[in-house]
Amino acid sequence: MSLESLNMAGGVLGTAFSLLLLASITQGLQDVDVLHYEKMEAVVGENVTLPCIIQSSPSLTIVSVEWRKNKSGNTKLAVYVPTYGLRQFWPNVIMQMVPSGSYLHLHDVETWDSGFYICDITTFPLGSIRRETELKIKDEVKLLCDAESIVEVPPGENVTISCTAFPADHYKWTKNNTLVSEIQSLELWLVTEAHSGIYTLTVNTGNKSVHKEFSITETVKSS
Ligand SMILES: *[C@@H]1O[C@H](CO)[C@@H](O)[C@H](O)[C@H]1NC(C)=O
Ligand SMILES: *[C@@H]1O[C@H](CO)[C@@H](O)[C@H](O)[C@H]1NC(C)=O
Ligand SMILES: *[C@@H]1O[C@H](CO)[C@@H](O)[C@H](O)[C@H]1NC(C)=O
Ligand SMILES: *[C@@H]1O[C@H](CO)[C@@H](O)[C@H](O)[C@H]1NC(C)=O
Ligand SMILES: *[C@@H]1O[C@H](CO)[C@@H](O)[C@H](O)[C@H]1NC(C)=O
Repeated sequence: MSLESLNMAGGVLGTAFSLLLLASITQGLQDVDVLHYEKMEAVVGENVTLPCIIQSSPSLTIVSVEWRKNKSGNTKLAVYVPTYGLRQFWPNVIMQMVPSGSYLHLHDVETWDSGFYICDITTFPLGSIRRETELKIKDEVKLLCDAESIVEVPPGENVTISCTAFPADHYKWTKNNTLVSEIQSLELWLVTEAHSGIYTLTVNTGNKSVHKEFSITETVKSS
């Protein structure tokens, strides 16, 4: 199980994860590594995947898996027992079973999805294993761009700066209050000195907006 496939499974912007913890605790005489996040952050509207996967114990049999959340009491989210199957109790939560554990998928998260998520796995012969993930859902706009804020372009070249905001409704690129682009990317062809300047990207999302500025300059010819 690679982190990459995990991110794909979550369908999220990969950088959101703060800390991956491979905790190792001793239960009886054996060490159990469980792939899970100790803390995770996401933005309102994202899909989030919480793993709870036992590593390096191929001969383990899973007797049951239960996901709970402990914000304002203890809410049962989903339970799996091989002979009875899967039971899910919460609308935006989907539990996925894999041979070595479980993923909890949270769809279109809201701030109230924040809290401690507890994964209890009962195994034979090791007994019960518990892990907790603290999930924080932030109500803000996340902006990722493929360029630094200072861009230098040789004369005659093209430049493209592409940004992705999440969540996002509307992109607007301006230069000195003049609209230059209304898509995610800014594209300048055959750059001349006239293109140099400060370009501002504004992304609106509901009633929030974020700005990011790029300074684009034509590099001076070396000759
Ligand atoms: C979340 O998942 C749903 C269904 O799988 C998908 O349609 C949607 O685009 C996803 N949202 C994001 C932000 O990835
Ligand atoms: C949830 O669990 C965490 C970690 O065990 C604990 O710090 C927190 O106080 C608990 N919250 C509630 C509401 O029970
Ligand atoms: C810049 O873009 C133009 C128009 O698409 C293209 O004709 C030209 O070859 C490009 N120049 C470079 C240096 O990539
Ligand atoms: C910005 O626009 C104003 C008014 O159109 C103009 O006076 C000013 O020189 C411009 N500034 C730059 C840096 O282009
Ligand atoms: C606008 O902000 C208010 C107060 O923060 C919030 O309740 C409302 O849901 C927001 N609307 C949108 C469309 O995000």
